[in-house]
Amino acid sequence: MGRLEGTKVRLRPLEPAEFRRVFEWYSDAEAASPFDRYVTDTFEGFVRSLGEAASDPASLAPRFVVEPLSSPGAVGVVGHFVSHPVLESVELWYLIGDPKSRGLGYGKEAVGLLVDEVYRTSAVARVGISCDVDNVPSCRLAEGLGFRREGTLRAALFHHGRWHDVHTYGITREEWAARGPRA
Ligand SMILES: CC(C)(COP(=O)(O)OP(=O)(O)OC[C@H]1O[C@@H](n2cnc3c(N)ncnc32)[C@H](O)[C@@H]1OP(=O)(O)O)[C@@H](O)C(=O)NCCC(=O)NCCS
Repeated sequence: MGRLEGTKVRLRPLEPAEFRRVFEWYSDAEAASPFDRYVTDTFEGFVRSLGEAASDPASLAPRFVVEPLSSPGAVGVVGHFVSHPVLESVELWYLIGDPKSRGLGYGKEAVGLLVDEVYRTSAVARVGISCDVDNVPSCRLAEGLGFRREGTLRAALFHHGRWHDVHTYGITREEWAARGPRA
């Protein structure tokens, strides 16, 4: 693993003592977004999925927790997955599960560290993010990191009684490298 530490947060593997807390974020409507649907039905299934993720590039299980440098403990989780059987692109997802920890720059820095890690550990040339058009923080996070909006999928996600459009964002390896080291 590379140096997964920024100025505000680090990414690190989940510890068994925090599995239950992370699992509960997924079933908390306050914490999770409609995108966070991977959740398994049972805690046992969740723990099993964590074990299987290392050998499954398509796994939606969390890959890292987000931990503030100033206060130990997980406030969120991030992951990456190969979403298409042919296209060679890696998709990212992210969840700051503790609502009090939102809006502090943790999500944006965590996702930047995750992009670094994906490009460092794989040969892909594109990393993508998808977000509900109504999810302003998520879309701003992607745009703030330099992801380019590539299109909008119409009626691609059903929640709250209706179909929602979804923006797709991407950043290429060259574009990411051209941003240079971040503060
Ligand atoms: C989306 C999420 C990860 C963002 O993480 P965060 O730590 O709260 O966000 P940050 O503080 O890093 O801010 C990221 C950007 O969003 C903006 N932002 C944050 N909260 C915002 C809010 N409530 N309203 C509008 N913009 C907001 C920030 O200003 C920043 O944009 P900037 O770089 O242009 O200034 C977090 O809100 C979350 O976990 N939401 C629930 C799960 C979710 O939606 N996941 C994504 C599914 S696609």
